[in-house]
This record gives sequence, C-alpha cells and structure tokens, in this order.
Amino acid sequence: MSIEQEVFGSGVAVVTGAGAGIGSGIARRLGQLGMHVVVTDIAGDRAEAVAAAIRAQGGRAEAQTLDVSRPAELDRLAADLFRRHGAVKLLVNNAGIETIGFSWEVPAERWETTLNVNIHGAVHGVRAFVPHMLKAGQPAWIANLASVGSFGVMPTQTAYIMSKHAVQSFSECLFLELQMAKAPIRVSSVIPGMLKTSIFDEAGGKGEPPAASHHRKVMRELMSTYGMDLDEGCQRIVAQIAEGRFWVSTQPEMTTGMIAGRVDFLTRQTDPTLSEQARHLLES
Ligand SMILES: NC(=O)c1ccc[n+]([C@@H]2O[C@H](COP(=O)([O-])OP(=O)(O)OC[C@H]3O[C@@H](n4cnc5c(N)ncnc54)[C@H](O)[C@@H]3O)[C@@H](O)[C@H]2O)c1
Repeated sequence: MSIEQEVFGSGVAVVTGAGAGIGSGIARRLGQLGMHVVVTDIAGDRAEAVAAAIRAQGGRAEAQTLDVSRPAELDRLAADLFRRHGAVKLLVNNAGIETIGFSWEVPAERWETTLNVNIHGAVHGVRAFVPHMLKAGQPAWIANLASVGSFGVMPTQTAYIMSKHAVQSFSECLFLELQMAKAPIRVSSVIPGMLKTSIFDEAGGKGEPPAASHHRKVMRELMSTYGMDLDEGCQRIVAQIAEGRFWVSTQPEMTTGMIAGRVDFLTRQTDPTLSEQARHLLES
C-alpha cells in the first residue's frame, strides 16, 4: 500500500476553494484515495459539481458553500463537521485569488478582499479547525497554499505576492507552534510552480485598468502554454502531504530557483531588481 493510500485512504478532508483549479484537483485525488471529501467554495454550484464528480467515480463527497474571508463561516463548518464526523483528518486552505495593478490603483475593496481571502482565509481556517483537532487528539494534516511567489516579487501583482509571503511565514510559525504544543498535527506549505487553472481568467474587480488586463492576459497565456497538467500537479501535492513533508512543490526546480534568487538578494542587500522572466513578462 502506498503512503498516500495508507494516510489518506480514509477519514474526512476539507478543501477550500475546491470548486475549480487546484482545490478541485486535490479534492478529486482525495476522493479517489477513499477519503470523505468536503468540497467547499464560495460558488456553491461549482462545489456541488466537483462533489458530484467524486461521487460519480464511486467516492464520498459533500459540497458546502463557504466564503473563507468570513471567519464565522469557517467556525460554523468546523463545529458542524466535528459534530457529524467526530474528526477531520486533513484541512487544505487552498482558496486564493489574483489581483493585478499598481498598488495605488487597486481599489480599497479589492485590496481588502485579496488579503482577506489569501491570508485571513488560511489563518481563520486554522483558528476554526485546530482546537477541534486538538480535542479529537488524532493525527491530522494541515496544508496551506503558498506559491513560488512566496519567495520573489512581481510588481503589479503586489497584493497577491504580499499575501503569499505572509502565508509562507504563517505556515512556518504554525508548524513550530504545533510542535511546541506537542500536537499530532503536521503542517505543509504547498508551493505550486505553475498549474493550468482559471486563476487569471476573472477580471480583478470592476474597472480593471487596461495595463492590468494586458498583464492578466499574458499570464493566462503563459499558464496555458507552460503550466503543468492540473491532475498531475495535484497528485504530486497529495503524495507529498501524505509523506508529512513541510515543503510540498509541484515543480521543485522552480521553488529552488526562486529561493536561490531571494537568498542572493537578501545577502547582497541591493535595491530590488526584476528577474529576467519578470522583465520579459512586463515588457511584452
Ligand atoms: N495555479 C497556479 O499555478 C498557482 C500557483 C501558485 C499558487 N497557487 C495557489 O493555489 C490556490 C488555488 O489557485 P487556483 O489556481 O486553483 O485558482 P482558481 O481561480 O482556479 O480556483 C480558486 C477557487 O477558489 C474559489 N474562491 C475564490 N474566493 C473564495 C472565497 N472567498 N472563499 C472560498 N472560495 C473562494 C473560487 O471560486 C475558485 O473555485 C490559490 O491559493 C493560489 O494562490 C496557484
């Protein structure tokens, strides 16, 4: 039996933002392995479609409408699931959105939404679920979606990049806190390189400036040309979480490349500079 089958062959998993993209891929993979998957998304119809697809393959899944930027909704879901199932083995804080534009041009509302979904979504997922996990006293796993962007910078994707730096440091501190508390809970920082998803499809709110629309279009094309197949990437993610790794990468060479660039920048303490790829992207 493979480690992932052994670890994730049973029990309850909760995946946020699982109505599309990486969340849906992770949910489908967990369903194949035999978990009861709670497929959650702000778009309830999309969550239901993914849950139905898991059930159609012989798996077990339920859909829940959940906006991760509303802490009370996460509290309610955690209480309900522990009451009904007794335990949640895996929580994947996956929901995240992109936002593009000069920092001073992104509307206040979009800044709030981006930071709330990307940072507070993971924070309040942990705050809502961990006390129940500790009480249940069974081994559990938490995976937070960071990004290769957690280790670099990209002007005009500032809100997103900032949020991913924050999620990475949150996961590192959380790992150590759970160790201090002697909790049987593993934390993984999931670092997708680039997987084919719809993250660049939606307009960044009303009145997106033309330069931001252009940037979004270029990123979308890059993703569809060079992105990794979604299911392949999600299988890699689930396998590494099951192995209990803190660092979970879909394309490890991208992760190490970004980290090497960051280490060099922090060591030399020069002014920030654009990487070759970023320059190419922004000048295209
Ligand atoms: N696709 C990549 O290459 C890539 C790379 C690095 C990191 N990531 C991270 O992976 C995660 C998933 O990204 P994706 O590419 O699959 O995106 P996606 O846009 O394809 O899917 C995101 C899902 O999250 C849902 N969502 C949005 N706001 C929500 C909210 N407030 N509450 C609950 N659900 C909400 C959307 O409805 C959608 O179904 C994100 O955290 C993203 O930052 C993705």
